[in-house]
Amino acid sequence: MTPEQIAELRKKKYNATVLRLTRAHSDLMILRVRPDFARPLHRPGQYTSLGLGYWEPRHPGCQEETLQPGDETRLARRAYSIGCGILEDGALLDIDRTDWLEFYIVLVRDSERQEPPALTPRLFLLREGDRLFMQEKITGHFTLDAVRPGDTVVFLSTGTGEAPHNYMLWELLRRGHTGRLLAACCVRYRRDLAYLAVHEELMRRYPHYVYLPLTTREADTINQKVYIQDLITGGELEQRLSQPLDPARTHVFLCGNPKMIGVPAKDRDTGARVYPQSRGVIEILEQRGFQADQPNIKLVGNIHYEEYW
Ligand SMILES: Cc1cc2nc3c(=O)[nH]c(=O)nc-3n(C[C@H](O)[C@H](O)[C@H](O)COP(=O)(O)OP(=O)(O)OC[C@H]3O[C@@H](n4cnc5c(N)ncnc54)[C@H](O)[C@@H]3O)c2cc1C
Ligand SMILES: NC(=O)c1ccc[n+]([C@@H]2O[C@H](COP(=O)([O-])OP(=O)(O)OC[C@H]3O[C@@H](n4cnc5c(N)ncnc54)[C@H](OP(=O)(O)O)[C@@H]3O)[C@@H](O)[C@H]2O)c1
Repeated sequence: MTPEQIAELRKKKYNATVLRLTRAHSDLMILRVRPDFARPLHRPGQYTSLGLGYWEPRHPGCQEETLQPGDETRLARRAYSIGCGILEDGALLDIDRTDWLEFYIVLVRDSERQEPPALTPRLFLLREGDRLFMQEKITGHFTLDAVRPGDTVVFLSTGTGEAPHNYMLWELLRRGHTGRLLAACCVRYRRDLAYLAVHEELMRRYPHYVYLPLTTREADTINQKVYIQDLITGGELEQRLSQPLDPARTHVFLCGNPKMIGVPAKDRDTGARVYPQSRGVIEILEQRGFQADQPNIKLVGNIHYEEYW
């Protein structure tokens, strides 16, 4: 494709600008995007999609991609939860006065699926001022709707799954939520905790908030991994909450790796819910009296989840 054709496609298909790009490390970034349109109404926890053309270059060191004829003029689009930096200049961020949205994105260099990763190898070549596509509609069922004043709220995530939790946490702090708040995030390495300093500061300011970071591949953790599931079964979650996990007054939010979440499948013959072989948080909590949302029958429980793949 000629540079003129590429410039024309960018002009036609892109509707947003990279305002700020912060790299936690080479493969993890926080992206602030300003759309050309007024920022759509939305609720913390929801997502939109971002996109870049298949004509854009890919980051070196990523799985090779073979394009089919006609692909090079299309957009690669993916869903992204809206994140939140929570604090700015020593105070809770005043989101109402901003015109951008924050995203927290990890570079997927190789995919377990048949298809190579399409979007992140391109997103990771973006620079501030570059243009991209952002879907105008912000959507999603993963919100604080079911949480009542005074409830205990527990956010459990892996990797970039903490993005929507950070936005929901910001909302609860802004509302002056009085119930206990705990967020745990499990990552491979400590450097994958891009918001660690923010959470540490929040813990100093809000005595009812606890952040529990877990790493699984650092020298001191790789041989004794503690997954999110182990936090619950081993009792540390309740210990750090300073109260039992009471289904009557607790909402648990799960986001990230589907294996951590463990959404039950429906048996084709009997219709019964069947937990996945590798034990996820839903199975553990349902055995303790919790109930996961079941959107197919419009059931709203006290475990809410967003799977990233
Ligand atoms: C509702 C929703 C919200 C999402 N929000 C975010 C977000 O805030 N930040 C984010 O980084 N991703 C998020 N994702 C995942 C995102 O849509 C893309 O799948 C991801 O960025 C990889 O895109 P890709 O085209 O490079 O590879 P894809 O072909 O989309 O994915 C290839 C493989 O990468 C792995 N993978 C995908 N996403 C992640 C991830 N976040 N962490 C670890 N491994 C992953 C999976 O094994 C997947 O099969 C979200 C997905 C959904 C459905
Ligand atoms: N270059 C880098 O430094 C770097 C860093 C991070 C990510 N990445 C890339 O980003 C992509 C995603 O990586 P990610 O680390 O964000 O996501 P991830 O692979 O989902 O891992 C996030 C956390 O979930 C844990 N986990 C794995 N299986 C689990 C299970 N069954 N139950 C509960 N927890 C489980 C992981 O532990 P385990 O240690 O056991 O996997 C890890 O601590 C990958 O493609 C990777 O290559 C690159």
